[in-house]
Amino acid sequence: MINPVIRPRRLRTTPALRRLASEIRLHPSELVLPMFVREGTGEATPIPSMPGVVQHTIDSARRAVTDAAASGIGGVMLFGVPAVRDAVGSGATDPDGILNAATRALVAEVGDALVVQTDLCLDEFTDHGHCGVLAADGSVDNDSTLERYCEMALVQAASGSQLLGLSGMMDGQVSAVRQALDQNGYVNTAVLAYSAKYASAFYGPFRDAVESTLEGDRRSYQLDPANRREGVREALLDIEEGADIVMVKPAGSYLDVLADVAAVSDIPVWAYQVSGEYAMIEAAAAHGWIDRRRAVEESVLSIRRAGADAVLTYWAVELATWLNERQAR
Ligand code: PBG
Repeated sequence: MINPVIRPRRLRTTPALRRLASEIRLHPSELVLPMFVREGTGEATPIPSMPGVVQHTIDSARRAVTDAAASGIGGVMLFGVPAVRDAVGSGATDPDGILNAATRALVAEVGDALVVQTDLCLDEFTDHGHCGVLAADGSVDNDSTLERYCEMALVQAASGSQLLGLSGMMDGQVSAVRQALDQNGYVNTAVLAYSAKYASAFYGPFRDAVESTLEGDRRSYQLDPANRREGVREALLDIEEGADIVMVKPAGSYLDVLADVAAVSDIPVWAYQVSGEYAMIEAAAAHGWIDRRRAVEESVLSIRRAGADAVLTYWAVELATWLNERQAR
């Protein structure tokens, strides 16, 4: 007779045992919804490569953020889609620019029901599509970009953003923005550092979402997908520079980096499940090739399991709704 002494299957025998033995569980409060708000009036516009995600107008965003708050998610991350772009991204620092106007409107709409956060980067606002301003030779100029980021930070803070998402990958951006905020009385405006942001193909649909066309690529400032240690180094630097939260992005293909960062960070670690990760699951599900709901839940659960304390995901509200239904049963 073969009789194994150790039987790990024991704890998997019933739904109740499995629930009790589960190491982590998802909760709406740790989900953040990225939202696109475009300049102009009228209705929200669908984004073809991200089925179910739209470019909002300020009006439609108001309604969406109210629904988001009702679902119990932790926050929204706002991206602006301006009507006009230029070399230095002037729209980013215009107090009436789309991102800043949307921030004021949404903060007024939801108050403290969730955390209104803003993307602090120039790529949505520049005509060349880079995350910074260009030097005469066409390269992205780190230090003059930092000056623009500091200006953006002050306008965003004044607009009511509570958490600034520094996604530009310029060296020294966290300390520069932190100092600018502190010197201007915004000591409680927090900084979310996109520390380990990789030069990824998975941002493809996002470019549609913000209607940005990029000249060249971002490999001179975003991380090489081959580099794991460098992701940890960037996170540690941002912690030293005064970040309140560090982030790894994309999420699903970078769970090793996420786990490494989570192991050494003494501040919260977040992850961004990006547009391409969203599009892949939606596309496969639309073909009937995978079970959409299970794939969505598993993908976000895996990001949490790898070490993320919170997840930016385009499914935030829908996932929260599923979690709330389960709670109610
Ligand atoms: C930069 C920014 C990008 C994304 C978020 N912030 C684009 C990029 O770096 O190319 C991508 C998010 C996504 O793909 O969902 N402002």
